[in-house]
Amino acid sequence: MAWSIAFLRNIGRPKPYFGVDTFSGFVATQFDADVATGNGEHHRYAFSAGSLNLVRRVLALHDASSGILIQGDICTLPETDLPPQIACALVDVDLAMPVEAALERIWARLVPGGRIVVDDCYENRGDWQAIKGYQAFCRRHALPETYSGGMGFLIAPEVLENDMNYSTVPVLVEVGNGVP
Ligand SMILES: C[S@@+](CC[C@H](N)C(=O)[O-])C[C@H]1O[C@@H](n2cnc3c(N)ncnc32)[C@H](O)[C@@H]1O
Repeated sequence: MAWSIAFLRNIGRPKPYFGVDTFSGFVATQFDADVATGNGEHHRYAFSAGSLNLVRRVLALHDASSGILIQGDICTLPETDLPPQIACALVDVDLAMPVEAALERIWARLVPGGRIVVDDCYENRGDWQAIKGYQAFCRRHALPETYSGGMGFLIAPEVLENDMNYSTVPVLVEVGNGVP
C-alpha cells in the first residue's frame, strides 16, 4: 500500500487509496472453512500480530499517510464503509471466503473498464485457497477466469462512447493490507 501510494504520487496520478483489513489476521470461521478444503493449520495465526496503529506508522515512514485505513472483516463490513466507486482493487486476503466476498462487493462498485487483481490464485499449490473464492465468483457471474503470475484478473466491461472522465474516478482499494 505504501509503495503504491508513493508510486502514484511520483507519476503525478495520486488518487484516494483505501486499505481494508482486520489488522489482526484471519477470522476464525473463515480460516476453518479454508482448512476444510486444504489450507494448513500452521497458517492460522499468520498476520495476527499486526495492528491499525502499526500500519499507520509504517505508512507515515514511507510518506504515504494519505492512505485511508478501514478496519473490519470484508465479509461483514457496513456498506457505507466502502467507497461507492472503485477504479482498481487488489484483493489479497488469502482465504476463499473473504476473497469471494471482497469480489462481490468490489464488482458492484467497479467503474467501466475497472480492474481487480486477486493474489495467490495458484492451482495445485496446496495451502491458501484464494483461488476457490475467485473461481466461485467467476462461475456465478459467468465471467472468464484469467490467470497470470499466480494472480487472477477481472475487468469490468467498458462503456463505449461514454463521457466518463477517468481522472475523476476516485478510488483504489486494497483488501488485505495489514502488511504495509
Ligand atoms: C497476505 S496479507 C496482505 C499483504 C499485503 N497486501 C501486502 O502486499 O503486503 C493478508 C491480509 O489479509 C487480511 N485478512 C484476512 N482475512 C480478512 C478479512 N476477512 N477481512 C479483511 N482482511 C482480512 C489479514 O489480516 C492480512 O493482513
